[in-house]
Amino acid sequence: MTGTGPAVVLVGPPGAGKSTVGALLAERLGTTYRDTDADVERTAGKAIPEIFFEEGEPHFRALERQAVRAAVGEHPGVLSLGGGAIMDEETRGLLAGLPVVFLDVALADAVKRVGLDAPRPLLAVNPRQQWRALMEERRPLYTEVARAVVATEGRTPEDVAEAVLDAL
Ligand code: S3P
Repeated sequence: MTGTGPAVVLVGPPGAGKSTVGALLAERLGTTYRDTDADVERTAGKAIPEIFFEEGEPHFRALERQAVRAAVGEHPGVLSLGGGAIMDEETRGLLAGLPVVFLDVALADAVKRVGLDAPRPLLAVNPRQQWRALMEERRPLYTEVARAVVATEGRTPEDVAEAVLDAL
């Protein structure tokens, strides 16, 4: 436990560039990068799509909540959360007072970044339509937990990382 929590927490939908920007930020800050998706997969010993399909989304969200709790308690570097982590009320509570940045992105850019064909169970069918629906539901929650919102539209990851540092 550092007692201070992560230097930056990135939230935002799939395709916002959380991993790329997070890794760049960690480099710039001379610290380490951690991703709760990877933590969940390591703990569960299986890939996220398998957790969703075999145990369901509520189970995944519970594992994700545990991963967020552990990470905010012990990771002093840059942390990014899975796109849906903020759907869980308790998880949102864990973010109170932390330097959370919402990486906002338009659908067209999200598609360019991840193609939306990476294995994301919630985007398995009609990815574009699903992404839009998720974003509509989640935008108020990303905004609620965030200390700053950084628009990523047409910006390089380096520009976005710079904007995140400026915003904090
Ligand atoms: C999810 C986003 C994914 C991953 C899981 C669920 C979501 O993370 O946690 O597939 O609900 O939006 P990324 O945002 O890193 O793709």
